[in-house]
Amino acid sequence: MTVLNKLTSKEAIELENNYGAHNYHPLPVVLSRGEGVHVWDVEGKKYYDFLSAYSAVNQGHCHPKVVDAMVNQAKTLTLTSRAFYNDMLGKYEKFATELFGFDKLLPMNTGAEAVETALKLARKWAYEVKGIDENKAEIIVCENNFHGRTTTIISFSNDPVARKNFGPYTKGFLKIEYDNLQELQEALESSNNIAAFLVEPIQGEAGVYVPSDGYLAAAKKMCADYNVLFIADEVQTGIARTGKMLAVDHENVQPDILILGKALSGGAYPVSAVLANNNIMNVIKPGNHGSTFGGNPVAAAVAIAALEVITEENLAANAEKLGQIFRDELSAFAKDNDLVKSVRGKGLLNAILINDTEDSSTAWDICLKLRDNGLLAKPTHGNIIRFAPPLVMNKEQLLECVAIIKKTIQEF
Ligand SMILES: Cc1ncc(COP(=O)(O)O)c(C=O)c1O
Repeated sequence: MTVLNKLTSKEAIELENNYGAHNYHPLPVVLSRGEGVHVWDVEGKKYYDFLSAYSAVNQGHCHPKVVDAMVNQAKTLTLTSRAFYNDMLGKYEKFATELFGFDKLLPMNTGAEAVETALKLARKWAYEVKGIDENKAEIIVCENNFHGRTTTIISFSNDPVARKNFGPYTKGFLKIEYDNLQELQEALESSNNIAAFLVEPIQGEAGVYVPSDGYLAAAKKMCADYNVLFIADEVQTGIARTGKMLAVDHENVQPDILILGKALSGGAYPVSAVLANNNIMNVIKPGNHGSTFGGNPVAAAVAIAALEVITEENLAANAEKLGQIFRDELSAFAKDNDLVKSVRGKGLLNAILINDTEDSSTAWDICLKLRDNGLLAKPTHGNIIRFAPPLVMNKEQLLECVAIIKKTIQEF
């Protein structure tokens, strides 16, 4: 067999099992092509993608505008490092800062790197602007958070699988309950060393937990009262996924630091970013932070195209409209179906809670049946199934998918 021979699904799975680290537990389906809301496996079977690479492919698979931008730039100049200027990064920075309403952008590659960047930025601001004593800064985080996989980020995770045997852990984090303003107030009052509050506007990985209306706006105001930075991790919720460009837009909140990733590239390329105003971002000086690939010309070209697609195709409004239909349909269905306990979400980031224990295999088995019926989704945390299709879906396709989901669950 030569390396690039065509494989069957079974062969591809065996290769990954034998030669790859087992750090994921994928649903057994091997994909080889994607277009819009669809993906195809190596045997040619077509599926609706209801995960969108964890909300990275909001613009749809292989969006022609994003792919063209990537290919054209890849043929021209791919990487210079930040040792030199390139003629794309500044254009992208101007475009993105104007779009999101910040003075400056710091470009990175993955979501976790952008979260790390935001944490470093907040700490440096705390020492140099707020005046906290060196090494004393604390950052408030929420229980059941998911911000990535680095050693510092897993230090403040409470997922035992993500944490165990990766210590010693990074200090300086204070954990409070999500969607609990009382606990936030107490944490802010507990010390003069609080630099920031890091929060997901909707907890995606935890199982699509939408906080109470007004939580984000009230939390932002409390932080401002204590001169504490409000950091919104919109890696999963951003870029139109929840029915607005950002999930914080639902409450007209402007974070002090905004973290973006995933769909910032339409899933074509790893692109992430941290945005803030000058009073915060200017604490970063040459040599303080960086990445060989961060801000490369391909990333810049891809991100401009990916953001333009979101606005040109009104994807936020489409997510809002289709998300409402999705929740209405499945909530009505759940009333007469014992297996679906509840439906929740915002825009096209939704989840159903399966009426079984967290350690049961029911949600996984439902996802296997959904796959057989032509729709790909994956459980998150045992008995929760997240549904997050590309935002380029139309109403007819959505209703077809709703019918597949209902039929599949009825078969159980
Ligand atoms: C809210 C949030 N932050 C950060 C990350 C990490 O992003 P990445 O996997 O690109 O490092 C994720 C990934 O799912 C996420 O959902």
